Amino acid sequence: MTFDPFNELAGGSALRLDEGQQDDYCLPVASHSPETERLDFVHDIYKYTAGNIPDEVMELLSDGQDRSILDVGCDTGKWAVEMTEAFPNVHVIGVDLAHPPITVFPPNFHFEIHDVTKGQEYANDTFDIVHVRDITPGISDFHGMLEECVRVLRPGGHLLVKEIEWMPYLHGGGDPRERMPAFRDSAFRSALSERSIDPMIGINLKRYVGNVRGLCDIQYSRHMVPLSPWSDDPILNYTGHLTRIGMPILGNTMRVMLIDHGHPDPDSTYAEAMRELSDLTIKPAWYFGNVAARKQGKFTDVEAENGTRILANG
Ligand SMILES: C[S@@+](CC[C@H](N)C(=O)[O-])C[C@H]1O[C@@H](n2cnc3c(N)ncnc32)[C@H](O)[C@@H]1O
Repeated sequence: MTFDPFNELAGGSALRLDEGQQDDYCLPVASHSPETERLDFVHDIYKYTAGNIPDEVMELLSDGQDRSILDVGCDTGKWAVEMTEAFPNVHVIGVDLAHPPITVFPPNFHFEIHDVTKGQEYANDTFDIVHVRDITPGISDFHGMLEECVRVLRPGGHLLVKEIEWMPYLHGGGDPRERMPAFRDSAFRSALSERSIDPMIGINLKRYVGNVRGLCDIQYSRHMVPLSPWSDDPILNYTGHLTRIGMPILGNTMRVMLIDHGHPDPDSTYAEAMRELSDLTIKPAWYFGNVAARKQGKFTDVEAENGTRILANG
């Protein structure tokens, strides 16, 4: 069968032009299987590596009061649903370009289709927490997107951001360009640049968040995840295992974008990259950046009620 990017049976799955796509997101949305499965693996990796939320947010959500969260680019909804289950007092709004692949929504989860490059649809000072994870491939103005997140955050509220560094490393030392040239191939990064998306957002996440006005208490951490199960540490071994089983799906995720970018044969390059990854001695790894910050101002519970009212009206 001839490859057709808009027909899943013919190898395609991305760029939803067949659905009248109006946005810039260049990967398959979560409702397009098997991307759903890959993103659920990645969710677990984040959770086991850095936790779903930092301790101070856990403390805030555990006080039993009505709280509100905006999950920007909520995708499969896994993070959002875990929040609603762990904290029944919390109302979560997820926004994304496409509907999450779940049919039963918890009563305290509300979903909206919205392109956040057009700004957030909520009033100033609405949410206790705004969560943004891995939405780089759809956002040409990451700074502007973060400013909007801060606008809808109530004073004292928490901004939580995680982004992948799209650059592999060798934990055992050595130059990835020599030891894993196919995996280190820059086509994905240059395809993002061609679409005016900065492929270095994950690497420069601390600076991106630091440049947004109105934030304080900015805490940054950087986390390593093995690309294969080479580590003796049980968590790293498990996240390496999850990464390895998600990797073949990632090849399919990126291929339409790469073909559109002019790559002559992304499948062969990716197959070679998978062969390179099977050498556990080079200890290949990926990293993600993790930021927690607060909006300047005093946190008061009067504004929490405002957030709840907006959710109830929604
Ligand atoms: C790689 S997925 C991961 C996101 C999810 N937060 C997670 O961590 O599992 C990126 C998601 O961001 C969404 N997205 C990208 N650009 C967007 C935009 N402009 N507006 C809303 N959602 C967007 C995509 O539809 C996709 O579901």
